[in-house]
Amino acid sequence: MKDVDGRTIYLKDYAPPAYLVERVDLTFVLAPEATRVKSRIRFTPNPGTASRDFFLHGEELKLVSASVDGQAVTPAVTDEGLTCEVPDAPFTWEAEVEIAPARNTALEGLYMSNGMYCTQCEAEGFRKITYYPDRPDVMAVFTVRIESELPVMLSNGNPGASGAGFAEWHDPWPKPAYLFALVAGELVNHPGSFTTRSGKDVELNVWVRPGDEGKCAFAMESLKKSMKWDEEVYGREYDLDIFNIVAVDDFNMGAMENKGLNIFNSAAVLASPETSTDANFERIEAIIAHEYFHNWTGNRITCRDWFQLCLKEGLTVFRDAQFTADMRSEPVKRITDVIDLRGRQFREDNGPLAHPVRPESFVEINNFYTATVYEKGAEVIGMLKRLVGDEAYAKALELYFERHDGDAATIEDWLKVFEDTTGRDLSQFKRWYSQAGTPRVSVDEAWKDGTYTLTFRQSTPPTPGQPVKDPRVIPIAVGLLGPNGDEVQETTLLELTEAEQSFTFEGLAAKPVPSILRGFSAPVILDRETDNAERAFLLAHDTDPFCKWEAGRALARDVLLRMLNEGAAPDKAFLGALSSTLADESLDPAFVALVLALPSEDDLAQAQVDAGLVPDPQAIHAVRERMRDAMAEALEDQLRAAYAAHQVPGPYRPDADAAASRALANTALMLLSRRDGGALAQTQYDTADNMTQQLAALSALLTAGAGEEALKAFEAQWKDDRLVMDKWFSLQVAHAEPGDTAATVERLTRHPAFTMKNPNRFRAVFGAFAMNQAGFHHDSGDGYRLMADWLIELDALNPQTTARMCSAFQTWRRYDADRQALIREALERIMAKKDLSRDTAEMIGRILDA
Ligand code: PHE
Ligand code: ZN
Repeated sequence: MKDVDGRTIYLKDYAPPAYLVERVDLTFVLAPEATRVKSRIRFTPNPGTASRDFFLHGEELKLVSASVDGQAVTPAVTDEGLTCEVPDAPFTWEAEVEIAPARNTALEGLYMSNGMYCTQCEAEGFRKITYYPDRPDVMAVFTVRIESELPVMLSNGNPGASGAGFAEWHDPWPKPAYLFALVAGELVNHPGSFTTRSGKDVELNVWVRPGDEGKCAFAMESLKKSMKWDEEVYGREYDLDIFNIVAVDDFNMGAMENKGLNIFNSAAVLASPETSTDANFERIEAIIAHEYFHNWTGNRITCRDWFQLCLKEGLTVFRDAQFTADMRSEPVKRITDVIDLRGRQFREDNGPLAHPVRPESFVEINNFYTATVYEKGAEVIGMLKRLVGDEAYAKALELYFERHDGDAATIEDWLKVFEDTTGRDLSQFKRWYSQAGTPRVSVDEAWKDGTYTLTFRQSTPPTPGQPVKDPRVIPIAVGLLGPNGDEVQETTLLELTEAEQSFTFEGLAAKPVPSILRGFSAPVILDRETDNAERAFLLAHDTDPFCKWEAGRALARDVLLRMLNEGAAPDKAFLGALSSTLADESLDPAFVALVLALPSEDDLAQAQVDAGLVPDPQAIHAVRERMRDAMAEALEDQLRAAYAAHQVPGPYRPDADAAASRALANTALMLLSRRDGGALAQTQYDTADNMTQQLAALSALLTAGAGEEALKAFEAQWKDDRLVMDKWFSLQVAHAEPGDTAATVERLTRHPAFTMKNPNRFRAVFGAFAMNQAGFHHDSGDGYRLMADWLIELDALNPQTTARMCSAFQTWRRYDADRQALIREALERIMAKKDLSRDTAEMIGRILDA
């Protein structure tokens, strides 16, 4: 791998820091091209280690002066930091450095976005602000002074003195440097307040650029709900006098949990009915909750080192999913999470980028903020909770907060609290943290004299660096249905711990139909030989919403694969099952919409690979189109009725019920646009008073090939709203025909509103490009070339976002030799770029190595 090898960092090499930090005083004198950062840091030798090597991280800093206990020193400085002679006793380090936030396009460290100063320090960005032991096991109390003429100046903790040209902040809670934050700019606030259950008043603010103040109310409400929920469900109270959220337009990720000063991508906070879709509202609520929940799971208890990232992220994703399930529909949240998990995490686990939930090595930690660490990390916690039960889970969490408050903890610490509360040995369970790859579980059934036996076999395919796997503990929730559709065995949890294991059910009157992996009780691939009659039966009768949906999904996949591989016609029985689902008025409309959605193109490609076939992305695309035409034709009357029945009267509300109705109506609209040339969609477009309806109508018009006028009108209406224009860019790429996708992307990059400097805009175009499988993988190779050209350009500006986008190529080994050769050429061209970032070099290296 290109000059990144020598830099690999291993979990097994962890060593505690030589010096600890008691307190830090920082002064920022802000200027776009030359900000001065003065630091005064009180160090003490770490009694827990013999090492006295003093090293401070620092990158891209101009060192102006340094002293130890008031005596000027001349440290030895490299690209990565400095070393210096220091006493083997407590001492005070002082330094002054100069940085240029206006030239920081990587959006890591201190940077500028639309005239405002802001920071992003996770994971290792603080070292671009000043010299410091930038590692999460060094926790300190920070005091910050900001000097500038800007009206609003914020940092972590509680406000201190402020006056003309300065503001001071003090954070009483010791924290690692990655949670440091600073914001300064011409901002306006949407205020609020919350009284904690012990009676403490907390001032809340959502800070935005002038003009956006009307889009803050939903975020504020979400924050209050999150604060209340964490008190009620986890017993966690907020611990400062103030909680600030700031919206920033240029941001690499969704949001960041800096202590008391969360910084958000504006896409993850600004909301209004006119500009945000139902999906946006739900995502904003979830991200506000996620960042808020980090205050306990991440900040009060942080990670010892970056290998433990899943300790905070897996748990916090799990908590935000519980929150969303409580605020909205639990089954719909579970099903959509599983779709997302399969689409992103299984895909990752199945290719060259597979890594354990707790990785054992990395070159660049930014490359490990992955679906595996986050979403599989959350699934692992869900399994743990299922295995020990809700009560023991609550007790274990209570102990976790009590025992580790103020600690930089590890996965071992986490598992130990469960072992101590339950007496269970979790050593086998721990394999979920150390082994990569998605386990495959096959199941056979036997029926004899009233006894029903299920035999499971588990195996996990090899992943990079892990050729052989040991059996894991897999909780499998099972229920049984009788021939008439009644449940004869309610949900029970089987614990699969062996490579092969059988479970029996006695005393049954007739051979049952099994409902296996209820609630998606483990992140595994279930291989079950069964027929479509049984799937249709489960879709009609299963009491478990996940398995009910899953039966429909398996049916759809099977039918589509037969069309693809055997040239079959759209299956009548499948269309009949969809018709029955549409007719069932007892079902949540959001659930019905999920049943009507077909498996993704990527999902079908993977299913073909699993069957030993080489997928053809264009053929897959064509088959899905054909099936949708068939659905529209067969279900036309019912779809029209559903569309009419699910119009939501009155002003727009973002709640789950209203959103569910719109989801079904708009699913119907999309299909109906295949029948009426877009007439109904045009009516909806012309009368829409909210973005959900407007965007769905535009999308349906594009499906009908009748969207040109509406696209122009949309652009004219929304040209000044960045977030809405991101949707306009994305939608065109998503709807482009396979042979025209690369040209569409190229055309959009020439649009005056396209910019590489804004990650949201870049992702709106190139993220959508990577998602358009048939377009990106078009056999011309144009997609690969274009993506490579732009990743090479972007790498010079923003390595982190470039590296993330490289995952577009991660499935390359599944395709034919011609496509593989074209992709290899693209990857090697990126790799050959002079001064390629460490981030991108690691990603391309891992993908090519496969
Ligand atoms: N820690 C953030 C979260 O999970 C994600 C993040 C990582 C943001 C790195 C920025 C940089 O909420
Ligand atoms: Zn997080």
